[in-house]
Amino acid sequence: MNIDLCKVINLPKVQDSRGNLTFVESNNHISFDIQRVYYLYDVPGGSARGGHAHKDLHQLIIAMSGSFDVVLDDGKNKKTIHLARSYYGLYICPMIWRELDNFSSGSVCMVLASNKYDEDDYYRDYAEFMRVRWQA
Ligand code: TYD
Repeated sequence: MNIDLCKVINLPKVQDSRGNLTFVESNNHISFDIQRVYYLYDVPGGSARGGHAHKDLHQLIIAMSGSFDVVLDDGKNKKTIHLARSYYGLYICPMIWRELDNFSSGSVCMVLASNKYDEDDYYRDYAEFMRVRWQA
């Protein structure tokens, strides 16, 4: 897995005079079944979230309100994606270290995930992630 597999997906946007509507369908806009939804909100200015990688989890990250940066790192290459629109979703494949920072005031980060919460699916130690990532 490398960061080139992580893509910003342009989600459908249905616009009319009453406002906009965006939707996400499993196995259509994203290639995994959604088993869990969680969201980050009331993030204090200057805080960072993430700081881990997942062994098997696929995720789609959407800035539902406001904006933030997602720094992706596959152990070799890094890239920063700025999310600021709720019709863009950032797909993150397994085995990618990610940090989320630069949250704007009042921002909401929603995450669609391919599995239920499982602490055993996490690498929270960067050195361990790097060891496993490149030992193969
Ligand atoms: P963590 O994954 O470290 O959050 P983030 O990636 O946004 O920085 O999770 C923070 C805490 O919340 C940790 O104790 C695990 C718990 N948690 C759940 O109980 N369920 C969940 O779905 C998630 C994502 C976290």
